[in-house]
Amino acid sequence: MTVADSAGLTAIAAVAHEPRQILLARGVTKSFPGVLALDNVDFDVRAGEVTALLGENGAGKSTLIKLMAGFYTPDSGEITVNGVALHADPAAAHRIGVATIHQDAHLVPAMTVAENIMLGRWPSRYGWLSMQAQRQKAHAALALVAPHLNLSTPAGRLSPADQQLIEIARAISEDSKILVMDEPTTSLSPPEIDRLFNVVNDLKGKGLGIVFVSHWLEEVFRIADRVTVLRDGRLVGTKPIGELDQDKVIRMMVGREVRETVLTERPIGDVVMRVSNLSRENVLNDISFEVRAGEIVGMAGLVGAGRSELAACIFGIDPYDSGSVEIGGTSVPPSDPRSAIEAGIGLVPEDRRRQALVGLMSVKSNVTLSLLDRVSSWGFLSSAQEESIANREIRSLGVKTPSSKVRVSTLSGGNQQKVVLARWLARRPKILILDEPTKGIDVGAKSEISELILRLAEEGMAILLISSELPEILSMTDRVLVMRAGRISASLTREQATGETIMSYATTG
Ligand SMILES: Nc1ncnc2c1ncn2[C@@H]1O[C@H](COP(=O)(O)OP(=O)(O)OP(=O)(O)O)[C@@H](O)[C@H]1O
Ligand SMILES: [Mg+2]
Repeated sequence: MTVADSAGLTAIAAVAHEPRQILLARGVTKSFPGVLALDNVDFDVRAGEVTALLGENGAGKSTLIKLMAGFYTPDSGEITVNGVALHADPAAAHRIGVATIHQDAHLVPAMTVAENIMLGRWPSRYGWLSMQAQRQKAHAALALVAPHLNLSTPAGRLSPADQQLIEIARAISEDSKILVMDEPTTSLSPPEIDRLFNVVNDLKGKGLGIVFVSHWLEEVFRIADRVTVLRDGRLVGTKPIGELDQDKVIRMMVGREVRETVLTERPIGDVVMRVSNLSRENVLNDISFEVRAGEIVGMAGLVGAGRSELAACIFGIDPYDSGSVEIGGTSVPPSDPRSAIEAGIGLVPEDRRRQALVGLMSVKSNVTLSLLDRVSSWGFLSSAQEESIANREIRSLGVKTPSSKVRVSTLSGGNQQKVVLARWLARRPKILILDEPTKGIDVGAKSEISELILRLAEEGMAILLISSELPEILSMTDRVLVMRAGRISASLTREQATGETIMSYATTG
C-alpha cells in the first residue's frame, strides 16, 4: 500500500452480491513439539461476511489465526489471499490485507491514539506530506469506529474496549481486506459489545471479510454469517448460520451433549470472610458483606463497576483507605498478598495471563507456585511430589497440554486460564475469589468448571464468584451482590435475583 492512495476509505471494495472468496486455506497442517495443532484444515474467508471460528480450548483457532497473520508457515498446505500465497512474514501479510487483533492487545500504551493507528507506517521516504496523509487516514478511520476518542490521548489511558477499537481503526486505515479478531469481546461490557458489533456490521457492508473467535455462542448467532468449527486441530465443518442452532454448534464443538449445572442444596456454615466498610478513594465506597462456608455468593455488575478492584483490595494487591477484611474472625493485614494467602484467601484474577502466570515457567511450576510456603515448611518439595500434585489438578480440569513440563506460554489461551485455576485448587483456600472464571473458556470446559465450583462449595469452601455473565450468576449462586460505581447497590436472594433485577441495580441502583 502506498500513501499515494486517497486519504479516505475508498479503497475498500464495494459489497459484492455473490460473496467473493478473499482468503483460502487449503490442507493446512501445523505442528508444535508434541502437538498437532492443525491437521489438514480447509478454511476460507469471504468478502462481506463474518465467519465465526469456533472450537474448544486448544482446538487450533489461534494457531490458524497466526498462520493467516503470517506468524508461522504451515508444515504443509497453503494459504492464499486473492491468489497470492502467504509466507511467515507478518509485515507481508499486513501488506496483502490481513489485519489481526490477537488474543492479547498490542497497543503501545505510551503512544497516542494517532501514533498507534499509524504504527509501523511512519513516513520514511515521503516526509512531512505523507505524515499529513497518514494523520488524515487515522482521523477518517477513527471517525468511523470510535468517534468519541481523541487522536492525541495516550493509548494506555483508554479502556480495553477503546483500545480494541483503536486496533480496528488501524486495520481500516491500512485498507485491510480481512479483519481477524481473536476473542475480541472478552473484556467488553454489553454496550461496548454492541458498539463493536455495529462497527463490524459497517465493515461487512464495505466488503471486508471478517473472522471472529468467541466462546459466547449468543454473540456468534448475533454477528456471524457462517460458522467453522475445529476440534483437536481438525476441521469439523463450515455451515451457514441459518442451518445451525446453539445445540448443533455445541455438538460440533465437543462431540457430545453438555450438561447444565444444577445448583444443589448445601449446608451453609459460619461466616468465613467478613468485609466491613471497605473504601478506597474514587474506587470503592463503603463495601460490607460476608461469605459463609459452603456458600457461593455472586458478584454482578458491569465492567468497570469496581468488582476486580474490590478483589484486588481484599487480596492485598491494592491498598485501601479504611475498613477491614476478616477471615474466621481475625483481621487480615492490608496490602500484603502473602498474609492474605496465609489467612486462607485465594484469588483467580480476571487478567490471568498477565497477572497470574509465569510464562517461561513450566505448567507444573505454575500449578505448584501457590504451595511454595507450605513446601518450605516440609523442607522441600520433591520434583515427584510437585509433578503428582500438578498432574492431579491438570487432570481434574482437563488442561490440554502434552505434559506438565512444557512452558505455560505454549498452551492455548483457555488452557492457560485453567492452569491458574488449578493452582488455587491445589492450595484449597478457605475462600476462593473467582474473577470471571469462565472468560475465554469453551462451553464444555465451562460446565466442568461450574461443576467443580459446586463441588468445592459442597466441601465447605466459601466462594465469591465475580461474573458479568448473567446466566452464570443466575445458575450458580446462592445470593447475589450487585456492584455499581464502587458501591454495593443491591444484595439479592436467589429468589429476588433475576436478569431484570440484576441489570436494573447494575445500571441505575
Ligand atoms: N507456540 C506453541 N508451542 C507449542 N504448542 C503450541 C504453541 N501454540 C499453540 N500450541 C498448541 O497448539 C494447540 C492449539 O492451540 P491454539 O492456541 O491454536 O488453541 P485455541 O483453539 O486458540 O484455544 P483457546 O480457545 O484456548 O484460545 C494447543 O494444544 C496448544 O497447546
Ligand atoms: Mg486461542
